[in-house]
Amino acid sequence: MIIDILTLFPNMFSTVFEESITKRAKEDKKVTINIHNFRDYTDDPHHKVDDTPYGGGAGMVLMAQPIFDCVERLKTKNSKVILLTPSGIPYKQKMAYDLSLEKHLIIICGHYEGFDERIRTLADLEISIGDYVLTGGEIPAMVLVDSITRLLPGVINEKSHLDDSFNDNLLDYPTYTKPRIFRGMEVPEVLLSGDHKKIEEYRHNESLKKTEQLRPDLLEK
Ligand code: ADE
Repeated sequence: MIIDILTLFPNMFSTVFEESITKRAKEDKKVTINIHNFRDYTDDPHHKVDDTPYGGGAGMVLMAQPIFDCVERLKTKNSKVILLTPSGIPYKQKMAYDLSLEKHLIIICGHYEGFDERIRTLADLEISIGDYVLTGGEIPAMVLVDSITRLLPGVINEKSHLDDSFNDNLLDYPTYTKPRIFRGMEVPEVLLSGDHKKIEEYRHNESLKKTEQLRPDLLEK
């Protein structure tokens, strides 16, 4: 998969994909991540990328031209263009799965007070990572890339993401490692039994219990 990220703040991405699973996925050529500063695409002699809003109001608005030119340079028939905005569709694990099947993602990070409405015509999909407002789309872009990259074939063991929280609308079951007793808290006996059928049953029940307690809204779906 190729992921192109359009931002005014490329330095924000300088280390985030250089650690852990994303780093390995890049080294193994499962994903190529390119960061583009759309300021490089402005026609303006002073490299301006934003201006005051028509009709008045506070703040500066990202101009359409640099973003249009950058997307048009990168786009092919296999591209899916994503615009990150608090008014987008709420991001969910199912969306991460669907996007992990794409060949090429172009992710536009909005910034400042907003962006020219006409930029929305470039997007195949508008995504929000939650009902709160960040200073820009950079952190949401990192969230998307991380959650999608781990689902690409061969990046992590498929079994480990089949058990992820939110698959089947259930939270993940609890896990333990050594020691067997830590500060008086014991590992459930069934996990030491070696009985795989019983362990599977226990895990499923714990998943259900945890979801009922912490996220009953998931069970209603
Ligand atoms: N930009 C600012 N806040 C955002 C959010 N919650 N999701 C996506 N993009 C954003």
